[in-house]
Amino acid sequence: MVVVTVLERSVRRLEQAHSLDGPAGAVVNVINRWLPAGRVKDVLSGTDLGHPLHPLLVTVPIGAWISAGFLDAFGGGGARSAARTLVGLGALAAVPATLTGASDWADTLGAERRIGAVHAMSNYGAIAAYLASWTARRRGRHRVGVGLSAAGAGLLGVSGWLGGHLTYAAGVGVDTTAFSTLPSEWTDAAPEAALDGRDMVAVLVGTVSVLLVKRPGSVVALSNRCTHRGAPLVDGSLGDGCIECPWHGSRFDVADGRVVRGPATRPQQVYETRVRDGRIEVRQADEQRTLRTNPVASGND
Ligand code: FES
Repeated sequence: MVVVTVLERSVRRLEQAHSLDGPAGAVVNVINRWLPAGRVKDVLSGTDLGHPLHPLLVTVPIGAWISAGFLDAFGGGGARSAARTLVGLGALAAVPATLTGASDWADTLGAERRIGAVHAMSNYGAIAAYLASWTARRRGRHRVGVGLSAAGAGLLGVSGWLGGHLTYAAGVGVDTTAFSTLPSEWTDAAPEAALDGRDMVAVLVGTVSVLLVKRPGSVVALSNRCTHRGAPLVDGSLGDGCIECPWHGSRFDVADGRVVRGPATRPQQVYETRVRDGRIEVRQADEQRTLRTNPVASGND
């Protein structure tokens, strides 16, 4: 518990470390200049997979390096060559993992960007340590190599903890609309006249911001919060049947919420709509009780 408290305090300090903003912002500007919204960005983001690619790719170097550690500890002299190969393989596999991480990080702001910067620096330190370990092993300096691998593993642990914080505490990489559910009964959203003279409008239904979009002969309702990092889509632009996010340029098909262009990986929620007596009503499609729809303190089973 003491360790957890120390870690929590440290991460809170990092979140407030505004001194990181200048250098981090400069690096982000360079990344965004070289990596605009488009096909390459989509591949690095994991748009076609439906989930971020970075968490998938990091398993390769981590697995290789941890396996090398086991061989160092328990494999004996005969396992030295295999351990060296694994250390080198991990360093190679770290390249795509680093590229995807940099792409994801470039879309963060504030505390997430600061934590992400330290997460990245820990990773670069780990990669450098493992590369030095591989070099030392190749030169026959096995003990030095093992020591450098141990240092790399320590840095990897710091980086992994910060990466977990980014995802599970700060929500980077998760669908920001995962818990934006509407009632399953028809609920009043706005008068039909709210769309007079405009193509879309954002309204609050309970606590959920809903984007109403005028289509030929119908009204479509989507979550107004971009699934990528939560931008208000009402500030974006409509065109070719898609809405483009104002922050990082993701495009979603208005009809079904499908991602047409990333960096978003998750589709927009589309709610059911109907017009009754000049009022637009919306509802969530029926869903079994799940983590998303579980009512809090309802007293029901
Ligand atoms: S918030 Fe990033 S694309 Fe919408």
